[in-house]
Amino acid sequence: MAVRPVIQLDNPVLRQKAKRVRAFDAKLHQLLDDMLETLEHEQGVGLAAPQIAVSQRVIIVVLPDDKEEYGDQAGAFYEVVNPEIVKISRDMVEGIEGCLSIPGYFGLVDRADSVVVQGFNRKGKEIRIKAYDWLARVFQHEIDHLDGVLYTDKAKEVWKAGEEPEWLREQYKTSNDDLPLAEDPPA
Ligand code: NI
Repeated sequence: MAVRPVIQLDNPVLRQKAKRVRAFDAKLHQLLDDMLETLEHEQGVGLAAPQIAVSQRVIIVVLPDDKEEYGDQAGAFYEVVNPEIVKISRDMVEGIEGCLSIPGYFGLVDRADSVVVQGFNRKGKEIRIKAYDWLARVFQHEIDHLDGVLYTDKAKEVWKAGEEPEWLREQYKTSNDDLPLAEDPPA
């Protein structure tokens, strides 16, 4: 395994539409292992392959092992190859997001409250995940990366960390939507 560099906003790979994975082989397994090591190194909660400059439809999501905050979702780990959102709630919720490819910023983004994600595990077996709340947000954020879409495209407002308004700080430091942000803990 190896930590790979996370590319930043100025890298055009982030804006490409990623290709579907066709071979569930050792190369894919290496990619997934490297993505997990990179995510742990960055202390993030989600990563899409394009963020390490691999334009393929692969995402991983790791929830912190914090039962108080995440209930029975705590510690969950998902690897999804060729993920697709096959069901999406009409209910939208507002929440804060950051991105490892856009460090030092975060924004307020409306996302569907729940989604069903379908895709494949590393062996090519079909998997289906029902995600709610914060987990649903992370999946939407990561799957957007595969289409070259960044949270800043959808955010109602984006702030530099430390320059956010007081009301935002109060609202989000005291709720479950607080930490961690999609991908990136706030500064
Ligand atoms: Ni991101």
